[in-house]
Amino acid sequence: MASNHYDLAVIGAGPGGYVAAIRATQQGAKVAIVEKQYLGGTCLNVGCIPSKAMLHIAEVMYSLESVEELGIHLPQSPVFDMNKAVAFKDKVVKRMTGGVGTLMKANNIDVFDGLGFVDASRTITVTKDGNQQQFSADKIILANGSVPLIPPMPGVDSANVINSDTCWNLPKTPDSLICVGGGVIGIELACMFNAIGTKVTILEMLPHILTPVDDEVRKLLVRILTKRGITIVTDAKVESIEEDGNQKKVIATTNKGQQSIQAEYVLMAVSRRANTTGLEQLIEQGLDTDRNRVRVNEKMETNLPGIYAIGDLVHGAGLAHVASMEGEIAADNATGHDAKMDYDVIPNPIYTFPEIAFVGLTEAAAKEKYPEARVERFPWTAIGKAVAIGETEGFTKVIVGQYGEILGAHIIGPDATNLISEFSVAMHGELTVDEIADTIHPHPTLSEGLREAVLAVEGHPIHIPPKQTARAR
Ligand code: FAD
Ligand code: NAI
Repeated sequence: MASNHYDLAVIGAGPGGYVAAIRATQQGAKVAIVEKQYLGGTCLNVGCIPSKAMLHIAEVMYSLESVEELGIHLPQSPVFDMNKAVAFKDKVVKRMTGGVGTLMKANNIDVFDGLGFVDASRTITVTKDGNQQQFSADKIILANGSVPLIPPMPGVDSANVINSDTCWNLPKTPDSLICVGGGVIGIELACMFNAIGTKVTILEMLPHILTPVDDEVRKLLVRILTKRGITIVTDAKVESIEEDGNQKKVIATTNKGQQSIQAEYVLMAVSRRANTTGLEQLIEQGLDTDRNRVRVNEKMETNLPGIYAIGDLVHGAGLAHVASMEGEIAADNATGHDAKMDYDVIPNPIYTFPEIAFVGLTEAAAKEKYPEARVERFPWTAIGKAVAIGETEGFTKVIVGQYGEILGAHIIGPDATNLISEFSVAMHGELTVDEIADTIHPHPTLSEGLREAVLAVEGHPIHIPPKQTARAR
C-alpha cells in the first residue's frame, strides 16, 4: 500500500528511472516511482523498442530483394502491410513495458500513476485526472527524460508533420517523406521507411549527416543509402513547411539559395529536449540547469541537497544504457554508497542496415589529440561469414595509441551493435592490441573482422589479397 514517506522517490519510469528504483531497493531502500504516461519511458514506448521492431521488419523486407540467388523463389513480390507491422510492434512494446510493471511489483516498488511535481523540501505531489496524492522522501532521483524538440517553425503543427513520438502508428506506408534532420533518429527512420517502400529525402543543415560518426564510416553509409534511393541533402536548413494541395512543401535554405521539396509526410527529427514538466518549482527554488538540462556532478547529484538527476534530463549521451548506468550510480549514492559515473567508454549503436557502432574517439579526434595514433581497418569483403551471408559492405577500424591501447573502434556492417562490445570491454579493461588479438575468436564469426583489424595494427600479415589491402589502407 502507498505510504506517505519513502527513503527514495524516483520521478519517471524510463530506463533511467526504473533501473534506479530497482537498484535502490536492492540496497535496502523503501522506494516509490512516479510515472505520468507509460512505464518504460520513451525508450520502451516510442523510442528504442518500437524503432527496433519496425527496423527489424524493414530489414526483413529489404533482405527479400536478394533471396532469389539463395534458391528461395517468391511466387509474387512481397507486399508490406502497415497495420500488421504496427500490431507486431505493439505486441513487442506491450511485452517489454509489461515486464517493467512486473519488475516494480517483484521489487516492492510503489508505483504512483500521475504527473509528479517536486519541491526542494522533497515533497512530491502527484496529480491525475483532478486527483492529488502527496508524499515525501529522504532522497529524490529526477529521471524525467526528454521529448522531441519541436522548433518554432511555420507549419510544424500541421497535419502529416510527424516526429518520433507520433510516427509509429501511421495508417499506411507514406508514399514520400522528408526527414528534417540527419541525426540518429532521422537516419534510422529514413532507413526504415525506405525499405518499406517510401521515397525518402533527408534534409540536414550541417555539412554532414551523423556528425559524431567517424568520417570514413559515414561516407560508406551515405554511399549505401544513396544507392538504395534515399536522397541526402546536406547544408540544407529547413525554415518552414507549407501546404501544396495534399502535399507538404518544405522550404530550406541551401548553398544554392532557397529550395522547396514536396512530400506526403514530413518527419521532424531535429534533436530532443529535456522534459522539465513538474520541475518548475524546483527550478524556481534554484535547481541548476544549463541549456535546459539539469546540471549534475559525477555522482549524479544536483546542486540541491538529496536531489539527483539522470538520463536524458542531464547532459549525457542520450542513450538508454547510459541512463540506466547513471540511475545505478545515483541510486548507490542516494543509499549511502559512493559511486561515480565514468563516460570514457560508451558504446554507441546506430541501427541502420548495415549497422554502425563505435566506442571511443573518431580517427580525426584521435589524431588531433594523439598525433602518434595509428589507424588500421579490415574490410568485410574478406570475412568468410560476411561473404556467406551476402553482407560484405562494411569494415572494422581500430585507432591505437603509442602503448598499444585502443583509442577508438568503429564498425559498419551486420551485427556491428553487438560486436562493438568486444572493443568496449577491451577499452574498459585497458587491454592492448596484443592482448585483444589473443582473446577475440576468429572463424567463422563476424568477429574475424575485429581480430584481423587488431592484428593489422600489430603489424601481423593479414590474409587478404594485396590489392584489397592497398585499397583498404
Ligand atoms: P525517458 O525514457 O524519456 O523516460 C522518462 C519518463 O519520465 C517518461 O516515461 C515520462 O513520461 C516520465 N516523466 C517525465 N516527467 C514526469 C513527471 N513530472 N512525473 C511523472 N513522470 C514523468 N537509446 C539507445 O541506447 N539505443 C537505441 O536504440 C535508442 N533508440 C531510440 C530511438 C528513438 C526513436 C528515440 C526517440 C530514442 C532512442 N534512444 C535510444 C534514446 C533513449 O530512448 C533515451 O536515451 C532513454 O529513453 C532515456 O531514458 P530516461 O529514463 O532518461 O528518459
Ligand atoms: P540529433 O541531435 O542527433 O540530430 C538532429 C539533426 O538535425 C542534427 O544533425 C541537426 O544539425 C539537424 N537539424 C536541426 N535543425 C535542422 C533544420 N532546421 N533543418 C535541417 N536539419 C536540422 O538528434 P536526433 O536524431 O533527434 O536524436 C536525438 C537523440 O536520440 C540522439 O542524440 C541519440 O542520443 C538518441 N537516439 C539514439 C539512438 C540509438 O542509439 N540508436 C536512436 C535514436 C535516437
